[in-house]
Amino acid sequence: MDLQNAIHERRTIHSYRSDAIEEGVLERALDAAHQAPCHKRTFPWRFTIAGPRSREALASIAVSLKSAGQTLPAEKITSIQNKILDPAQLVVVTQVRCDDEFRAREDYAACSCAIQNLSLSLTADGVGSKWSTGGLTRDPATYDVLAVDGALEEIIGFIWVGIPAETPVVKRPELASVVRRTP
Ligand SMILES: Cc1cc2nc3c(=O)[nH]c(=O)nc-3n(C[C@H](O)[C@H](O)[C@H](O)COP(=O)(O)O)c2cc1C
Repeated sequence: MDLQNAIHERRTIHSYRSDAIEEGVLERALDAAHQAPCHKRTFPWRFTIAGPRSREALASIAVSLKSAGQTLPAEKITSIQNKILDPAQLVVVTQVRCDDEFRAREDYAACSCAIQNLSLSLTADGVGSKWSTGGLTRDPATYDVLAVDGALEEIIGFIWVGIPAETPVVKRPELASVVRRTP
């Protein structure tokens, strides 16, 4: 698939089949991510591939966050767990912390470029992805499960990777509404 097609075909995938993805696809996407630009050559991105035991533990954390002390119906619990367990892979992207506010902002931009490269590479290989953030990505228990030292790195996204069960259509505002030209 050429680059323009990958850019236009990439969609955030919300539901996945439980199938595995072809060998080499994730490695290629990680390598594409690592080609992203970064100011001052900080290379601020780190990628943690969550293994099956970590995914099970993350599913438990997600259930406790959603239940907030209440007992949830069994189907709800299964649906929360499946969201974590169905996608073929989970790549956790962390940004190396730095004290300088401006540098940290540029590093976040660089990490975002890396995530987009990752997603485009997956799209070109016929694989879907989703960048997600929320209570689970911020919870201290998540850092523990993934062995990420929160003092050194910040989790900036979970990237779900897998074979789409459904590909949404997302309408965008007209290009002319987001482009300005000066004389
Ligand atoms: C920083 C960031 C965080 C995101 N977090 C979530 C999320 O937590 N849940 C979600 O459903 N989508 C999340 N998304 C994906 C957006 O919802 C998605 O990009 C948007 O709906 C447009 O769809 P598209 O990616 O198919 O163009 C996130 C995207 C970005 C850039």
